[in-house]
Amino acid sequence: MDGNGRWAKSKGAARIFGHKNAISAVRDVTEGCAELGVQYLTLYAFSTENWSRPQTEVKGLMQLLVHTIKNEIKTLQKNNVKLNAIGELSTLPNNCQNELQEAMDQTKANTGLTLTLALSYSGRWEIVDAVKRIAAAAVKNEIKPEEIDSDIFRSFLMSKDIPDPELLIRTSGEMRVSNFLMWQLAYTEIYITPKLWPDFRKVDLHQAIESYQNRERRFGRISEQVNS
Ligand code: IPE
Ligand code: MG
Repeated sequence: MDGNGRWAKSKGAARIFGHKNAISAVRDVTEGCAELGVQYLTLYAFSTENWSRPQTEVKGLMQLLVHTIKNEIKTLQKNNVKLNAIGELSTLPNNCQNELQEAMDQTKANTGLTLTLALSYSGRWEIVDAVKRIAAAAVKNEIKPEEIDSDIFRSFLMSKDIPDPELLIRTSGEMRVSNFLMWQLAYTEIYITPKLWPDFRKVDLHQAIESYQNRERRFGRISEQVNS
């Protein structure tokens, strides 16, 4: 969800104004996904690297997060959305952790879209975190090094219950992965739009999905194999 700062700047406003206006995009896209029967939507809301931003912006983002989670629980319930989070959550302010936990508890029985917020998240952090736990399991003889394969590795990732994304959408025209789901994006289709995140709506989501539908996913094979 990129481009909040530039969006605010273009309006002569402070960066936090862009973050506040990002919420309507989140709401619209979440609803759009729920309507289409998308099962998993993962939003990169705050990266490990974002902690290095000016402290006023970080503080503003955390406050916004707390309020938004609190205010949106009702809508999540109405749309049968289950809230989930990945990242180093223990580094979030306590009130943020509590609201998040509360929202996850309240929506845990919902069976529609799983909405995952990546918070204090980075792909490399997640991989290193998994490696630590694999090593600990090996020390305790719960796992043999020679047994470790892709599936076992994945089972140690915090995002283990989320399937690999079919489509990655990046807004604001940036052509980078920026430490998002580094392991999981191996064969994900990428869609980049110049739209800044606060302007992104359902119609843009639909355009992204249409683009995805016209891709040929070969997973390393050749066209004739995929189409036979
Ligand atoms: C993305 O918008 C939101 C977060 C990282 C929280 P930015 O804040 O990165 O906006 P730009 O890139 O400065 O326009
Ligand atoms: Mg940015």
